[in-house]
Amino acid sequence: MKNKVIITGGTGYIGSHTAVEFIQNGFEVVLVDNLSNSDISIVDRIEKITGIKPEFEEIDLTDIKKTSSFFKKHKDAKGVINFAALKAVGESVQKPIEYYRNNLNILLNVLENMEVNSISNFIFSSSATVYGLPDKLPITEESETKRPTSPYGNTKKVGEEIIEDFVKIAKNVKAISLRYFNPIGAHKSGLIGEAPTGIPNNLMPYITQVAAGVRKELKVFGKDYDTKDGTAIRDYIHVMDLAVAHMAAFKRLNDTGKDQKYEIFNIGTGIGYSVLDVISSFEKTSKQKLNYSFDDRREGDVPMLYADSSKASKVLHWGTSLSLDDMTRSSWEWEESLK
Ligand code: NAD
Ligand code: UFG
Repeated sequence: MKNKVIITGGTGYIGSHTAVEFIQNGFEVVLVDNLSNSDISIVDRIEKITGIKPEFEEIDLTDIKKTSSFFKKHKDAKGVINFAALKAVGESVQKPIEYYRNNLNILLNVLENMEVNSISNFIFSSSATVYGLPDKLPITEESETKRPTSPYGNTKKVGEEIIEDFVKIAKNVKAISLRYFNPIGAHKSGLIGEAPTGIPNNLMPYITQVAAGVRKELKVFGKDYDTKDGTAIRDYIHVMDLAVAHMAAFKRLNDTGKDQKYEIFNIGTGIGYSVLDVISSFEKTSKQKLNYSFDDRREGDVPMLYADSSKASKVLHWGTSLSLDDMTRSSWEWEESLK
């Protein structure tokens, strides 16, 4: 019998790539999502890639009753990977209650049902946003966390604290939080990728939409940062490398010799690229000239953010294998497949 894993937010961007990784590693995957930011067609696309159609349930995980009957039905699961959340930074500033209610209630409902049903392994999608403006780079897990500037970011910081309190008293649950840096790219099949609704907030989907003619021009936010070319630096990570990190974390949780009930890992490449580096890689791999101009800095942006992921490398035996060119190439192939 296959080991069963529940993936919340499983039809979303990172959830769908992680589902492919788990299916291809022999797991039985159950996807649960309310489809508020993803499409049901992803289930068939996962089947096209893997040859296996994952079970899917459309449920709003803030609904206590439905969540509890879902978990009862899947009490034989070995673990939960919790991607489900609202994630638009700007929108969260306008709708703080909606973001706290959605993201925190999902977490509370999932944790409670795991304990009730003795499902032991939990992975939480956290974010580098918990570090705020860093004092020192690269950032290790020991770096101080700060109150994120947006309610969205704060749901990650508070979420981590909830997990920390919960595992202390939970008899059955062990947890890992993965602090993602900047996930971009898409599966090499071109069948799944990031599909933002409306105007993208993030750099990579904005770039591909400009190149595809969906948007007119990219605004590069800030050219006067104290960086090599004046534009802000981030640690971009390929979504498939990120998917593999979840597999490594899951193995770690299953490692019976391990006594920590809760661990946190940075998940990045450790390399910082500027906005202009990303544009230049994109122009090379897509053979497109990108229309862009410079604009003011975006409020709340930090000048530089990149990870020290050596803890994940040592403890999870995980590392990245895909380059910035792989990321920009696959993002473009995905955008082209949408035409
Ligand atoms: P996504 O929006 O593509 O996926 C999230 C999924 O959760 C969506 O399919 C959405 O429909 C679902 N969802 C939202 N509320 C729900 C609810 N109440 N019940 C059931 N399903 C619900 O986002 P993503 O980029 O795949 O992000 C996955 C996780 O990683 C999120 O928790 C996000 O905050 C976190 N994260 C993302 C990034 C990034 O840059 N993409 C960076 C750091 C952390
Ligand atoms: N940028 C532009 N123009 C755009 C969009 C972005 O120049 O149209 C720049 C930003 O100013 C920033 C860089 O590209 O310098 C990356 O911006 P993103 O919006 O793609 O990513 P962020 O680093 O701002 O945010 C990401 C995730 C958040 C998470 C945060 C943690 O999207 O969910 O990392 O640091 F909270």
